[in-house]
Amino acid sequence: MPKAHSFVPPSGPTDASIVFVGEQPGRTEVQRRKPFCGPSGQLLGDLMGSAGILRTECYFTNVIKDFDAPIKHYVNIKGHNTSVSPAGQTYFDQLKAELERIRPNVVVAVGNVALFALTSRTGVTKWRGSVLESTLVRGLKVIPTIHPTTILPPKMVYTNRYLIINDLALALKQSTSPEIQMSPRTYIISPTFLESLDYLDRCIEHGLADDVVAFDIEIHNMQLSCISFSFKADEAISIPFVGSGGDYFSPDQEIEVMQKIAELLEDPRIRKLGQNVIFDSSFLLRRYGIKVHSLDDTMIAQQIIAADFPKGLDFITSMWTDMPYYKDEGKQWFKGLGGRWETLWEYNARDSIACSIAFPKQMTELTSKGNLGTYERQRQLIEPLTFMMEHGIRADVKAMTTAFMNADADIARLQEELNETAGMSINPNSPKQLQEYFYNLKRISPYKKGGRPTTNDDALKRLARRGFREASIIQDIRRVNKQRANYLDPSHVDPDGRIRCSYNPVGTRYSRI
Ligand code: URA
Repeated sequence: MPKAHSFVPPSGPTDASIVFVGEQPGRTEVQRRKPFCGPSGQLLGDLMGSAGILRTECYFTNVIKDFDAPIKHYVNIKGHNTSVSPAGQTYFDQLKAELERIRPNVVVAVGNVALFALTSRTGVTKWRGSVLESTLVRGLKVIPTIHPTTILPPKMVYTNRYLIINDLALALKQSTSPEIQMSPRTYIISPTFLESLDYLDRCIEHGLADDVVAFDIEIHNMQLSCISFSFKADEAISIPFVGSGGDYFSPDQEIEVMQKIAELLEDPRIRKLGQNVIFDSSFLLRRYGIKVHSLDDTMIAQQIIAADFPKGLDFITSMWTDMPYYKDEGKQWFKGLGGRWETLWEYNARDSIACSIAFPKQMTELTSKGNLGTYERQRQLIEPLTFMMEHGIRADVKAMTTAFMNADADIARLQEELNETAGMSINPNSPKQLQEYFYNLKRISPYKKGGRPTTNDDALKRLARRGFREASIIQDIRRVNKQRANYLDPSHVDPDGRIRCSYNPVGTRYSRI
């Protein structure tokens, strides 16, 4: 391929142990014929400094090395349907030869295009912080990170700073050797009846000796599919109840295993740990009458440590463990794509191990920041909230039914009023019709969100303030509709006359339930 007009060659020492692979040069890079020297490159330099990496010791390159055409012309990232043009493929081949020549200890894939070129994966927010093997150059270690351009305008996701620094610090740690060093871990799956009982006994023994026992359940078709336990960072068991041949244990064996599980989970002297553990504890209470006591939760800890960041186990795993992202395996299994039961069991065991590894580190962090008390208070909500979920709230079903029907009548009356005021029939739930009515027919200059016309709540509020009666009627209809569907619908009441819902002890950014 002839050199493109705006070709930007790589730069940096060819014996570097860390190589940065970006997406495509920008304007500044083309002017100076040097990668990563524009605004996002300078920012990357600052973040490298924070992570302790010397810029002069690293080699910089891009997947696409020119700016003759936008990135989509070469690589069009669309999840499973990502496509690479012939020009893009030529650059991929060039990158492969370049990396084979340099053979660094670690490659940092900066952004989605580099992630795809190096590992055939997409979704950099999921994969960032994982140590992966390259599919482009076998044996080459890749650590993906978010592109620093996301921190700059127009996106301005300031919090990405901390994630990138975290990933770069990992890259530095991994740069001392080319091996993909992963802590060895044992996932015990398909245990026999006796092995299951024996492992549960060991959990009890360790729990009574003050080790925290992590656990996690998987539910399929509202049945307990398997449950995992881990009392140390390098081992977990997944005990299944269903497998390819139907029930995994005989009925008598299953009773014995469940009794042992109850013995462990109900013992207030043993600290149990889970991610969003209220989900597990409420299911176990509802289906088996098991009252799980003495609970810790990595999700609660994470929310208190970093309220501005996600609190899912995938994120926790990326921040506190060296386990690569694995959550898609479980998601695929549940979608019926994964197939093998072993995949589910190993996934189940991984969840407990991830908690076992992360939790002591979270505790150290909470202690060092003086936030352990906050964590303790929030964690004490788990048991009462589990009880509240199970107990529910008694409902006056008769009054609800009347109010539900009255709401129907209110909506019909408001709809009539709306049609009369507008002089035509309007569907208040159709953004298309509302936009047509206000912005075309009534010639109001459109309110916008993300650059597009909108008739969302804010827009309607403004229209109502400007005296458009139709807008306030539409708001009224939406309000009554919401009340009716969310709070008055008698079909939400359980057969025993009580309403049940779920609670999240850290449901909001500032930890309100
Ligand atoms: N962004 C990239 O991906 N590469 C560069 O070289 C500069 C900005």
